[in-house]
This record gives sequence, structure tokens and C-alpha cells, in this order.
Amino acid sequence: MEEGTNGQRLRYADGVLGGPDEAERVRLAAMAEVCDPTTIRVFGDLGVDAGWRCLEVGAGGGSIAVWLAGRVAAAGHVVATDVDIRYLAELAAPNLTVLRHDVTRDPAPDGGPFDLIHARFVLEHLPEREDVLDRLLTWLRPGGTIVLESIARFPVDSAPHAPFRDAMLGIDQALAKTIGTDSGWARGFPGPLVARGLADVGMTVQLPTTGGANASARCWTLTLSRLRPHIRRLELASDATLDEALDQLADPSFFDVAFATAIAWGRVPVSGYGTSSQA
Ligand SMILES: C[S@@+](CC[C@H](N)C(=O)[O-])C[C@H]1O[C@@H](n2cnc3c(N)ncnc32)[C@H](O)[C@@H]1O
Repeated sequence: MEEGTNGQRLRYADGVLGGPDEAERVRLAAMAEVCDPTTIRVFGDLGVDAGWRCLEVGAGGGSIAVWLAGRVAAAGHVVATDVDIRYLAELAAPNLTVLRHDVTRDPAPDGGPFDLIHARFVLEHLPEREDVLDRLLTWLRPGGTIVLESIARFPVDSAPHAPFRDAMLGIDQALAKTIGTDSGWARGFPGPLVARGLADVGMTVQLPTTGGANASARCWTLTLSRLRPHIRRLELASDATLDEALDQLADPSFFDVAFATAIAWGRVPVSGYGTSSQA
């Protein structure tokens, strides 16, 4: 993993992803368009309902936090956290609180213990993901539910379109080498929840089709453009390959499968989660 100019390890928002660019708002919106329907279906299957207290970790553009606020209604409450709340600042609902919060080190947010904690595309980017998972479980009430979503690299390896495949693997390796992202972690789902003794554990996988200039293609185009300087600096793919991949993503007749999303869930036993974890 690389270090920044101050000698500290680079993090998600240190000029790698995130940040003040309007393109980042559009990227988060495209991500939500692709992924929200599946997330919402999982919440429905798990019985997320009026009155629940929910924590949305690394809320990004806030679409799921807003949906949850509607679902839990006036009797419930949603806390939406992120290290960067610029895209959450304008969210407004009487039962929705936005909090600048680093899940790796800040104390448990007010509003808990929670009935539901959800984190999508957050823990895979944090090298201390296993410790973060321990922390999150201590913030749930006994019987409370965690839902983890993470990108998973495995469909990319077999992509038949070489420029697209090499560019996607370039994204994967650039994130791994700069901020310590692990897109292989989710391949072991729901293992981290089973290992911690959770009840009613389950998982599903979403394989979004990328192409036809759809929202997934827009999202990966913006991600590739954003990471291009890192991919080139690390010599993970040539300019010609990246140009070809961008052309493929813009081609209405192109289709492939990019990263999968692995979704795992489980409930803390009613006797509570173990005592070895940090607050
Ligand atoms: C890929 S985006 C996903 C956004 C949103 N969860 C979604 O799925 O649409 C990752 C988000 O995690 C946030 N994040 C990164 N590191 C974090 C940390 N240590 N604590 C809280 N949020 C963090 C980023 O700022 C960003 O908004």
C-alpha cells in the first residue's frame, strides 16, 4: 500500500475516490441506480419496518438513508454517517440525522443501539475491515440485523472483452495498491458473519450487466476516468487499453459483467455480541 506526501497511508478520499468533484455526485447516483433496488429487496425480505432505528454507514449520496427514513416512518430513526458528508448535507427528513463520522475510529454514533446497520461498498475499502465489523456489531441491539455489501472481483477475471477486463482489473489493483481495497474479501461471504456467531445468516449476489450505456456503464466509466492516473502511474494498463475500454463502455451494443456485489446479512444473538470488541 502506498503512502501520501505526509508519509501517512492513503485513505478512500485522499485523491483516490470521493472528493468535491461533481463527477463524484454523478458516480454515486449511478451506483444507487444500479444497486438500490437489490438493497431494498433485501431489506424487505429481512422485515425492515416502521419504528426501526437504522445506521447507514458510509452513506455516500444518501439514497438508501432516505429510503430507510421513509420505511421506518415517524416512529423510527435513521443515522447516516460518512467521512465526507458533502453529498448528504441537503438530505432532509425529521427522522434522519447526518453525521460526519469515521467508522474506523470514532465512537458509536448517538441513536443506537440499532435495529439495522447497513454498509455498502465501504468495508472492502478499509484495511481494518475485520475490526470495523467487530465495532459495528457492538452498535447493534441484541437481535439486531447487519447487512454488508461489498464489490467482488470474480466475474471480471473471465470477461471476454480484453480491454474492458484489463481496465477493470486495473481499477481493482489501483485501489488495492493505493488504499488497501480487497475485492476478494466478499468472495468468502457470509464467512465473517458466521465466524462471529450471528444467527439467521444469509447471502445473495447481484451481477449487474454493464453496457448498453446503462447506469452501471456510466458508473464504471466515471470510476475508470477517476482512477486512470493511478492505473497509469502504477503501469497496470496502457493508455490505448484504457481508451478502448472507455469506448466499449460508451458503445450501446457492448455488454459484459463487471464486479459482482456480494450481500451478506445476519442477526446478533439475543444474548448480545461477544465482549472482545471495542466500543
Ligand atoms: C463507494 S462509496 C459507497 C456509497 C454508498 N454506501 C453507496 O453504496 O451508494 C464509499 C463511501 O464510504 C465512505 N467512507 C470511506 N471511508 C470511510 C470511513 N472510514 N468511515 C465512514 N465512511 C467512509 C466514502 O466517503 C464514500 O461515501
